[in-house]
Amino acid sequence: MKYPMFKVHIDTAGALEQIEPVLNSGFVNEGEQVTELTNYFSEYFQHNRVMALNSCTSALTLALKLCDVMPDDEIIATSMTCVASNTPIHTFGAKVIWADINHKTGNIEPDNIEKLITPKTKALLCVNWSGLPCDLEKIYNICEENNIKFIQDAAHSMGATYKGKQSHHFAHYTCYSLQAIKHITTGDGGLLVVNTNDDDFQRAKALKWFGIDRDSTKDEKGEWKGQRWEMDVVEAGFKFHMNNITAAIGLSQIPHMGEIIDTHRRNGLLYEELFSDERFVNGLSYPKDSSPTFWVYTAILSEHLDRDKILQELNDEGINAGVVHVPNHYYTCFKESFTDLPETDYFSKHQISLPCGWWLDEKDIRVIANSLLQKCEENSNIRK
Ligand SMILES: Cc1ncc(COP(=O)(O)O)c(C=O)c1O
Repeated sequence: MKYPMFKVHIDTAGALEQIEPVLNSGFVNEGEQVTELTNYFSEYFQHNRVMALNSCTSALTLALKLCDVMPDDEIIATSMTCVASNTPIHTFGAKVIWADINHKTGNIEPDNIEKLITPKTKALLCVNWSGLPCDLEKIYNICEENNIKFIQDAAHSMGATYKGKQSHHFAHYTCYSLQAIKHITTGDGGLLVVNTNDDDFQRAKALKWFGIDRDSTKDEKGEWKGQRWEMDVVEAGFKFHMNNITAAIGLSQIPHMGEIIDTHRRNGLLYEELFSDERFVNGLSYPKDSSPTFWVYTAILSEHLDRDKILQELNDEGINAGVVHVPNHYYTCFKESFTDLPETDYFSKHQISLPCGWWLDEKDIRVIANSLLQKCEENSNIRK
């Protein structure tokens, strides 16, 4: 495809430079490079409780564990996402309670939340669709008032801000993805921001590696001080830590991160401008005081248009437009949670997602936008 939806940004020379010392050192497990990458993100996020993990799915699982989710508990979540947002809920034997979105935002509608809260509700899990922040403060306040935790799946929204701050300041736990096709990649990887308290963070540090805090095996200088297997494992954990090879790839991304995120944002804002007066294509809305990072650019097409035909025509022209994710509430594994979600269905039927990433410049965005508008016009005439 001439205009792919996703492209992996790898600085091969930079990555090899970072990886070589790791391989030569013979220490490829979690160590210096993971610490360096974690410190970088702590600084970037302006938050001192950041943890590097092997995926966002692991971060979501760990966040749910920190909420003490048990079988038969309920987690309120969105169906309009990657299934990876919701499978961790299933892992705990908890029940997903679907909150409908607003089709104009692609995100959970805060007004739909409160009626779903029961004594069994442990947490709410939201996704910032395509990099557009949810109404985070409203959702956070609802969670606080009802004594439930707010988990933010920010896999699409690295770098997005809300009310002038990075979005994780408005949730108890925020999970980022460093998977192959995200803004920033380490091949596979994830980050968890623990915005609750130090005890929670210490617990997460142990849970990410079977139940043992790797830092507690080091002295003040970071040197290994003794046999860790003699330590007690109080709470059984997971194997979710990041390793030095993965972190080395992440370190090679850092010099490019600002430009990558800025280009996604610039491209998204240009689409917004180009579609602002159009009758067939409506961009999504998001809180006024937020700044999205447009992982992809999603718009809603007019109801009378044949979205799938238009998608096919764009694909035939080398424009890799698509739908990115399909609603999760139709999956068999979630059949016990099934409920009607009219806004999710509407969004799913009429949304179109366009390539928006760092590999596209202003000219490319104009070509894609014009092509879409032309296809809408033609399709509209056929249907008259
Ligand atoms: C919204 C969303 N959440 C979670 C994930 C899972 O991320 P990871 O592959 O890093 O586990 C993805 C994509 O992969 C995603 O798109």
